[in-house]
Amino acid sequence: METIIAASRNSGKIREMEAITSCFGIKIISRDEAGLPRDEVEEDGETFEENSFKKASYIMELSARPVIADDSGLVVDCIDGAPGVYSARFAGTDCDDRKNNEKLIDLIKKFSYQKRTGRFVSVITMLYPDGRKFVARGEAEGHLILEEKGRNGFGYDPLFVPLGYDRTFAEMSPEEKNRISHRGKALEKLHGLLAAEDRL
Ligand code: IMP
Repeated sequence: METIIAASRNSGKIREMEAITSCFGIKIISRDEAGLPRDEVEEDGETFEENSFKKASYIMELSARPVIADDSGLVVDCIDGAPGVYSARFAGTDCDDRKNNEKLIDLIKKFSYQKRTGRFVSVITMLYPDGRKFVARGEAEGHLILEEKGRNGFGYDPLFVPLGYDRTFAEMSPEEKNRISHRGKALEKLHGLLAAEDRL
């Protein structure tokens, strides 16, 4: 099995990625497990693609090993696409999931359920020291609710009801979320790209 370093220390993300990539022969270890320095790259890009590439190339330069990065976030239509690329630090630099969710609820509570549409986006970038680059994007459409439901997952999961379901991502098992999530879809695409390049 090939071992790749995740350019993230978000354990929720790494768990979800590993569950999928291990099925196609890639083991993911965190940058901390790889013994890399803790300094952070500035995620100042305007798109998920830019930030995903920035994170991946930063960690590859540090480690000289294959790297996988996920830049992801929630795009909510009735508030002009916020929080978008600012999803992780929506309520400020020292915020946490609870504060981010509270801020989101506050901004969207004046809109009806029908208007509270949005999508999770994940852009996965995989870089190899030999210069190969693979990029895959996945999206999951849904509605936002005004009260947290469920205890699984992370981030905005307790507020997001995927299209065609009446439960939030946080009320689903990890397997069920991965089957329909933005990250699951991006990783399936990545699998296809790697297979087409004969890497697997
Ligand atoms: P970043 O990609 O590290 O900049 O952070 C992405 C942020 O988007 C996370 O901190 C979460 O707040 C949110 N996010 C991304 N993917 C998910 C998900 O699958 N569920 C819930 N929140 C997510």
